[in-house]
This record gives sequence, C-alpha cells and structure tokens, in this order.
Amino acid sequence: MSLSSKHLLGLRNTPREDIELIIDTAKTFREVLERPIKKVPTLTGKTIVNLFFENSTRTRISFELAQKRLSADTINFSISTSSTKKGETFKDTVKNIEAMKIDMIVVRHQSAGVPDFLTRISNANIINAGDGRHEHPTQALLDFFSIEEKLGKLSGKNVCIVGDVSHSRVALSNIFGLQTLGANVSVCGPATMIPRNIEKLGVKIYQKVEDAIRENDVLNVLRIQLEREAGGAIPNVNEYHKYFGITRERLEKYNPEIVILHPGPINRGVEITSEVADGPYQLILEQVTNGVAIRMAILYLLGTLPN
Ligand code: CP
Repeated sequence: MSLSSKHLLGLRNTPREDIELIIDTAKTFREVLERPIKKVPTLTGKTIVNLFFENSTRTRISFELAQKRLSADTINFSISTSSTKKGETFKDTVKNIEAMKIDMIVVRHQSAGVPDFLTRISNANIINAGDGRHEHPTQALLDFFSIEEKLGKLSGKNVCIVGDVSHSRVALSNIFGLQTLGANVSVCGPATMIPRNIEKLGVKIYQKVEDAIRENDVLNVLRIQLEREAGGAIPNVNEYHKYFGITRERLEKYNPEIVILHPGPINRGVEITSEVADGPYQLILEQVTNGVAIRMAILYLLGTLPN
C-alpha cells in the first residue's frame, strides 16, 4: 500500500484510502513511541528541511522529533537568521536549499498556497505544515487519529468545530477530511466567525453552543486568533466566553459523554476554561503525542514511495 500523491498539501482532495493508510501507519509508530528506544532506521540517508516562516511550537517540534525518530537528517530553517532578511526571494531561498540535495520539505507559511507553489519549483516531497487560512492537514489527521483512538471509527460520528472558523486552517482540513471519512460535520460560533456559504460544503451551523454540545460526540474547539484580526469579529473576549466558551458546567449539563479537542495554543478562559482544558473530557495532550506518530507515518509513507 502506498499514498496516491508524492506531496501532502491538504485534505480537500485526499482520498479516503490515503487518510486511512496514514492513520493505520501512525498506530504502528505510536507503539514505537512507547519503547525505551524510540527510534527506527526507516529514513536513514534522507534529508528533510523544516521551512517555518511562521511561529510554531507543536507542529515544528513534532515534525523534527518525527524525523529524528525515523533516523532522517533534519535541518531547521530559521527565518530570523537567514538571508531572507537581506532580501533574498522565497524562490531563491528554496532553490539554494534544494541545490544542497534534500529529499523533503516541511513548510509553514503565512500565505495560503505556498506549499502548492513549492511543488512547482522543487523536486522534493512537500508537506504542508499550515498555510495561511487555507489548510493544516497534519493537524486534522492527528485529530482524526485521536478521536478514533477514543471513540472508534469516525464514520457516522457527529463532530462540531467551535469558534473562529473563518480564520482557521485547522477547520478547513477537518471539514474535508472528516467528510471523507463519513463523519457528520458542523460548526458553531458567532456569525462573524462563520464563513459565508459554509453550508454549501455540507456543514451544519449551530448558533448556540449548548445545542452543539448536546448533539455532538466531539467538539474541536478552535483558538480565538487575535493576531489574525479575529478581535474585530467579536466585541471582546469576555463576551465570546460568555456565549461560546467551553465550560465544565455546560458540558456536565448538556453532554457529559462529549470529547473535547483543541489544536493549541490555548487561550485559557476565552474559548475554553482551564478546568476543561486540564480535565477529563479533553484529549489535548494525547493529540500532541499522536501528532508525532502521524507525522512519522506521513514522512515514512512519502519517503519510501517508489520513484
Ligand atoms: N496546532 C498547531 O499548529 O500548533 P503550533 O502553531 O504551535 O504548531
């Protein structure tokens, strides 16, 4: 079994077989992470560059760890110490890095479409680690893995994405992938944070978070992205918390069986209380651990594709 594409750019057109193969492979690597020696020789001799043009904690460290666990040689591009600061173009930067004979590029960029652009100027395997408001496929895949670990197959499950959907690449990758896997997908948030016409994607809209909690198996709670102008979409964070905040009281009252996901970083006391973020409903740190296994699976499957 192998993936149908040499790149992972998003989940919009990723077939069900590919998503299932990545999740099944991640299960094997999740077991490797529990061993005393968490390393396998699978990608020995492969060179992978992590090109992060935007801040990241979880995704960058997770990819780097995944590469090291697979015995690949890994290079981290740091924009603050690179010649980008002297005016070198993005294309020249990539062409120069590629001239050093690399095999894969993991890219995060503030502009949507950069991973796709890279496929046209590079021969390396390209993995999207988050591009603007477009997609964040590895985050969505680790979300699916975490849900399936807890609740079994996603087919027929009800999953609601709560919060700042308009500014979220996590939301879009979740919507595409969850639908491919047969889940019922909905969104919930203030009207100013829900993209116009999202129902055309087959997504139900909840106006009240209480209804979303009552009718879903899983809530994927998004961060309020104040740095991406989300602040303009709500009067203030206290108001947001009052109407859409995920609190223990709401979960206990409307659905004590619900499972809570959050991609991080968390705004404690805004979209979610500390009591929920650290409590029994959530899988947040499990998601982070599973993220390493998912990224190992993707690197392995792309790195061992026949030419
Ligand atoms: N979930 C996520 O993408 O987190 P980082 O921005 O820290 O990578």
